Amino acid sequence: MRHLIDFGDLSRQEWDELYARADRIMDNPEAYLDTCHGKVSCNLFYEPSTRTNFSFQTAMLRLGGSVFGFADPKSSSVAKGESLKDTIKMVSGYADVIVMRTPWEGAAKAASLYSDVPVVNAGDGGHMHPTQTTADLTTITRLRGSVDGLSIGLCGDLKNGRTVHSLIKALAKFRDIRFFLIAPRELAIPDYLRQFMRAHEMPFVEVTGLEPVIPQLDVLYMTRIQRERFIDPLEYERNKGIYVLTRAKLARARENLLVMHPLPRVDEISVDVDDDPRAVYFQQARFGMFARMSLLSDLANQPRIAPDPVEIGHGPICHNPNCITQTELYLPPLVKKNGGVDCCAFCDTPL
Ligand code: CP
Repeated sequence: MRHLIDFGDLSRQEWDELYARADRIMDNPEAYLDTCHGKVSCNLFYEPSTRTNFSFQTAMLRLGGSVFGFADPKSSSVAKGESLKDTIKMVSGYADVIVMRTPWEGAAKAASLYSDVPVVNAGDGGHMHPTQTTADLTTITRLRGSVDGLSIGLCGDLKNGRTVHSLIKALAKFRDIRFFLIAPRELAIPDYLRQFMRAHEMPFVEVTGLEPVIPQLDVLYMTRIQRERFIDPLEYERNKGIYVLTRAKLARARENLLVMHPLPRVDEISVDVDDDPRAVYFQQARFGMFARMSLLSDLANQPRIAPDPVEIGHGPICHNPNCITQTELYLPPLVKKNGGVDCCAFCDTPL
């Protein structure tokens, strides 16, 4: 692994190694205090964040490294119109690893084309969030011993929820998982992921009701309705508050259910669930810090490698209005196959 843009970048063996190191760090953090001594992370956060930005910062500091960057692009030359390519060329000269979150889908992939150092996707619009997935898999493995063989319910805004998209990509690497995709029809998973699940023979059912399926689940992964991603505010109004997990609804759930949430939550998990031993979402956020320590201890110590020259594009080939190719017009017209369908290599939208 050179960059972490999509969980598909990791082989199962690489994930197992990453988890095993996270597990060792949790048990003996003192042994890792100098792992990134002298290394510097650049955290470029073009979008708000609490967990991802702070956990990456503390992860680097706990490994003996340093961090610089911005939490608001208005404080940088992005506000003067500097392109993503030029920003990345600059900061990859100053840092050993770049961690970036943006509202544009495919932006981390775009950055990786121009960077001398590893790029980590810390969330690109409604597309992917692979390091949240490292937190999620670490939580399940640490608390349940294994991810294989579980029945997993993914509930909420499955259309815009990037954490769910990355988690589905990751779970293709495990065995015998059954999926319950719980969402209103308007917010069902994108078609490219449905194709992906079929291509990888991942059994799934799509349902609109949460309560009928709760008794069948080993993991319930709740998500927020992602207000900031809606182009039509009326669509948000129709769907907000549609799922609310309460302590009463958990009465029919399994004793060893894991209730997970990438956070932040709005109202989809009632606060009366927080003290239920099955609610592990705050633990999940802490596990994310250890997973990110494990990731940085590898990526920040990689050698600098100048990227290969990239073809100059002439505007987007992709019609997704949130794709990075809509604003960074020099990006090459890269295409990839998803389940046999030609898709934009930046945002996965079918062409
Ligand atoms: N889970 C997550 O990405 O949270 P933040 O948006 O606070 O980083």
